[in-house]
Amino acid sequence: MKILLIGKNGQLGQEIDKQSVEKGHEVHSFSREELNITDSEKVKSKIESIAPDAVINASAFHNVPVCEEQPDQAFLINATALAPIAQVCSEKNIMFVTYSTDYVFDGLKGTPYVEEDKPSPVQMYGISKAAGEYVSLAYSKTSIVIRSSGVYGGKYGSRSKKGNFVLGILEQAKTEDSIEVAKEQFVNPTYAPDLAKATLELLEHRNINGIYHLANEGYCSWAEFAQEIIKDKGLPTKIIPVDRKGIAGSLSRPFFSALRNTKAEKLGVKLPTWQDGLRRYIAYLN
Ligand SMILES: NC(=O)c1ccc[n+]([C@@H]2O[C@H](COP(=O)([O-])OP(=O)(O)OC[C@H]3O[C@@H](n4cnc5c(N)ncnc54)[C@H](OP(=O)(O)O)[C@@H]3O)[C@@H](O)[C@H]2O)c1
Repeated sequence: MKILLIGKNGQLGQEIDKQSVEKGHEVHSFSREELNITDSEKVKSKIESIAPDAVINASAFHNVPVCEEQPDQAFLINATALAPIAQVCSEKNIMFVTYSTDYVFDGLKGTPYVEEDKPSPVQMYGISKAAGEYVSLAYSKTSIVIRSSGVYGGKYGSRSKKGNFVLGILEQAKTEDSIEVAKEQFVNPTYAPDLAKATLELLEHRNINGIYHLANEGYCSWAEFAQEIIKDKGLPTKIIPVDRKGIAGSLSRPFFSALRNTKAEKLGVKLPTWQDGLRRYIAYLN
């Protein structure tokens, strides 16, 4: 398969790039500097000249508090920029894969969200990603929107987020005997290599489209995730679960935004548990 990858240096982008090569795909990967997703003419011309079987967009504007301050940028990168890509992919019958988030949900359902549940985001990041889902699906019959949750990976994590949750806890544990972590928000922490692997497996099923959930199996609160990180790393640090009532500063976050991968599972695409993903990440970091 010939793949054009946008956002190759992200937690997920790096893994898609690496695993695509390992699988024998022909990959044309671009960093933000090489191909900015907002430069629609350049993106369209790359798609036309490379003529890939699939375009994978691993780029995003997803620092959640920054999205509140810069809604224009959030909408531009997470939604508006996707329209011309979806359009050209549709015209040329190219699969267009783009990623969305559990934050398109308000978290009030109380059980894991399935693909058919209606988005109702409670902050700008989720609103811009829900718009991106709509744009991708409205402009093309070849779009695949993959929602994931709590993504982490790579030695340094996400540049825009200055790391990731795991790296943040490990850094704090160097200097603090105890760390307070939210106990009221539930997610599926997802290891980027597992998400990349499942994405490439999904693409083996030609002629699929629509929304798919791909997150590591099971779910936990951020406090339980932090406890598991400390346990796997064998540290003495104490995690203190606290109830922040879903509020971080002036920002609302969903209480229970865990996902269920019902559609992928039917195609035989299954991800390992979040505990398994975390163990492999800790081993990779050691
Ligand atoms: N991380 C999470 O917790 C999480 C949860 C659910 C869903 N997701 C979704 O999963 C996808 C991948 O996330 P990730 O964690 O791998 O993100 P990431 O590590 O922050 O990577 C995003 C990549 O996009 C690049 N980028 C930013 N703006 C761009 C632009 N205008 N044009 C081209 N490239 C641009 C960034 O470049 P620089 O390196 O130069 O900044 C970075 O390499 C995103 O769609 C995200 O919304 C993430």
